[in-house]
Amino acid sequence: MIGATTSTAVPVAWLVARAAGLTALALLSASLWLGLAMSVRLLPPRRQKSLMGWHQTLMWCGLSMVALHGIALLLDPVMHFSIAVVLVPGLAPWRPLAVSAGVVTAWLMLALASSFHVRRRITQRRWRLIHYSGFAAFALALGHGLTAGTDLRGTTGLLVAGGLAAPIVWLVYARILVPRAQPARRQATPGTA
Ligand code: HEM
Repeated sequence: MIGATTSTAVPVAWLVARAAGLTALALLSASLWLGLAMSVRLLPPRRQKSLMGWHQTLMWCGLSMVALHGIALLLDPVMHFSIAVVLVPGLAPWRPLAVSAGVVTAWLMLALASSFHVRRRITQRRWRLIHYSGFAAFALALGHGLTAGTDLRGTTGLLVAGGLAAPIVWLVYARILVPRAQPARRQATPGTA
């Protein structure tokens, strides 16, 4: 186990992997919060567009942190992960289930981030399906961080998980309860049938 390293020198790659993993989790959560905030129309319509921009940017920033996380793990002198382990779920020799959850999250995040750029070319149903997978990505990322990581053990892990999940639960609750505004009907112009 990495945590049981006897040397006093802590591998830099391990520190980078942990920091990048935690940052990726925070950015993914923030992107999900903004997506839900748009869906419940939390801000006035003129602010919706900027929310969309941030929603997309945070997802791409999260994905770049995932890339850094993966590269740092490849360079980690204790883990000895191969490129295949980082890209294919189920190949990790160490905590395979926990690591697989991270790998699947990474692919889901790539699908989510890419979907913004093909939105006009895919059906609304497909777009929604991809975006609902954001919930799965969040749950898997949280499960992965709590079970594979070093820093999210015990009470810290519970507090972080609660802090990240609370806005999501609240926004989903609001989304279910708050009726969606119907699109304004066109006024019938005199003389038209
Ligand atoms: C590319 C596939 C991935 C692999 C192979 C992977 C692997 C790992 C491993 C081996 C650890 C344990 C590091 C340690 O010893 O502390 C870890 C921790 C972690 N990973 Fe990943 N991961 C992946 C993707 C992700 C994704 C997509 C996220 C979040 C969006 C994420 C977030 C985290 C977090 C938060 C930790 C805990 C960091 C800590 O406790 O310090 N990982 N990951």
